[in-house]
This record gives sequence, C-alpha cells and structure tokens, in this order.
Amino acid sequence: MLKGRHLINSEDFSTEEIQSIISLAQKIIASPQRFSHCCDGKLLGTLFFEPSTRTRLSFEAAMLRLGGRVIGFADESSSSSTKGESLVDTIRTVASYADLLAMRHTKEGSSFLASSVCPVPLINAGDGGHQHPTQTLTDLLTIVEAKGQPEGLCVGFCGDLKFGRTVHSLVKAMSRYPDNRFIFISPKELHIPNHIKIELDRLGVEYREIERLEEVIDELDVLYMTRVQKERFFNEADYIRLKDSYILDKKKLRSAKKDLAILHPLPRVNEIHPEVDSDPRALYFRQVGYGMYARMALIIKVLGVEEC
Ligand code: CP
Repeated sequence: MLKGRHLINSEDFSTEEIQSIISLAQKIIASPQRFSHCCDGKLLGTLFFEPSTRTRLSFEAAMLRLGGRVIGFADESSSSSTKGESLVDTIRTVASYADLLAMRHTKEGSSFLASSVCPVPLINAGDGGHQHPTQTLTDLLTIVEAKGQPEGLCVGFCGDLKFGRTVHSLVKAMSRYPDNRFIFISPKELHIPNHIKIELDRLGVEYREIERLEEVIDELDVLYMTRVQKERFFNEADYIRLKDSYILDKKKLRSAKKDLAILHPLPRVNEIHPEVDSDPRALYFRQVGYGMYARMALIIKVLGVEEC
C-alpha cells in the first residue's frame, strides 16, 4: 500500500511496489485519457531549492495531466528561506496548502529531515549527491520497456559515480533484482562510494571497477552515462581536469551490442557526442518522456486515487 507514503530513497519501496508503479505507468502510456481526472481537486507543491528542468517540469506536467494543479517555487531566492526560514518551517507551511510535495535540495539528507515534519507524502526530487529515487523509477521504466525486465543484465555506470545521485539510487534498486551485474567505469577520483560497494558485497552482487569504457563496452546490456557534477566539486581545477573523462561517440559504440540500451538522466554536457543521438540504441530522450509517466503513476499511488 503506497497511499500516504514518503519516497526518500529508492529502497523505501519494495520491488513489488516499484513493479506496481511501473505497470501503472505502462497503462498510462497505453491510454492516458483514462487517467486524466484521477487528481481532480488535488494540489502538488514543488519546492526546488536547486535548479532543474526535467524533474520539476515532469512532476508539474504529470500532475496537470492527471487533472490536478501545482503550486511551488523553482528557485530558492523567491522563497522565504532567503529571510532565514528553516527548511522544516517551509515544509510545514507548504504541506498545509498541498496534498503532496516534491522537493529538491542541495543538501544530502534534507528530504529525510523534511519528511519527518511533513503530514502529506513528500517525494525526494534529488538531495545533494545522495539519491534521486524518481529518476530511478524513470530509469527502471526505460529499462523494462527496452529489455522486458530489470534483471539478468550487465549494467555499466560511467562518469561521475561519486556525486551522481541517480547512479546511487539506480544501483541500490537494481541490486535487488536477480542476476544483475555492474561495471563501474570512472576515474579513481570519482569512484562509486564505499557504502554502496559494502551493500553490494553484503547482497552478493557481482561488480567491478575500471577506468576505460572501451575495455568493457562489448559486455554491456545497459550503458548508463552521467555528467561530471560540477556543482558538487570544491575545487574548480579538479572539475576541469575530470569533466571530459568520457565522451561516448560512434567510434566507441562500434564494438557494443546491437541491442545495447544507452541511458543518461540528463542534462548532458560533453559526455555523449550529439552524433550518437540518432543511434537507435540511444534511449535518453525517450527516457525523459518516461519520466512524466513514472511520476504520474507515483502520484496516483501515493495519493491513493487509483480507482478514478
Ligand atoms: N535528470 C534530472 O534530474 O534532470 P534535471 O536536473 O533537469 O531535473
């Protein structure tokens, strides 16, 4: 039962609950009109303390397409936090107007803190370098649409695996499905955090870490490219040195499988050359569209309005 629940980490929901969201998203894709009044009279509050294009707009589009309405802010500077209001007071305030909240914040753990005072469902739309669980729903929907199921896959995660919150959430989610194995491809400065490797060891999930994408690209069923997260670096010189560590182009894809699924949470900077966009294996713009349907399904579930 997902009604009334917060979503802070990708592992907050069981694999059965995630499956129910993905199945509902597929039903919405097949006949969106059936769901166009599910949220009549409901209000979504979007609190974005950090910039976003896809996540905020897909949440808003999702609620509007379900018949609901949206309030919120896209920029911290237009909220009373600039006058010194605490995060928990802001949450208590907006929760007294809206039926559910989607919040993005620069600080790891902020969504958990916010949820502790929030009487309506609170969805983590990205908290610093920690997690981004609705991107994971989007990614899983994309993988299910491409591969049929999110299991038995060799998944390569490439780029900034240290700060990339979408990677952290997706690895945790996919590690719960059988027979997945992971290849972490990054410079040593941007390795996947130790706490995630400890969890994979505990679960007995196979993984390895390498630096060169070319060495493993032929093994992969899914390649999850990521941007180097400039905003999380303390030192600009380090960012400049590492930002173009990986650039996926047609040449590198020559040895990849014919049915490789190339995902990227976007925004992209240089890590996928635009010449790849027309390759049928490039799914990242389809993935953007799935983001809205995944969030429509999530909203319906946490508001408990499935029987609309
Ligand atoms: N994927 C993602 O979170 O994109 P935005 O930062 O544009 O929301």
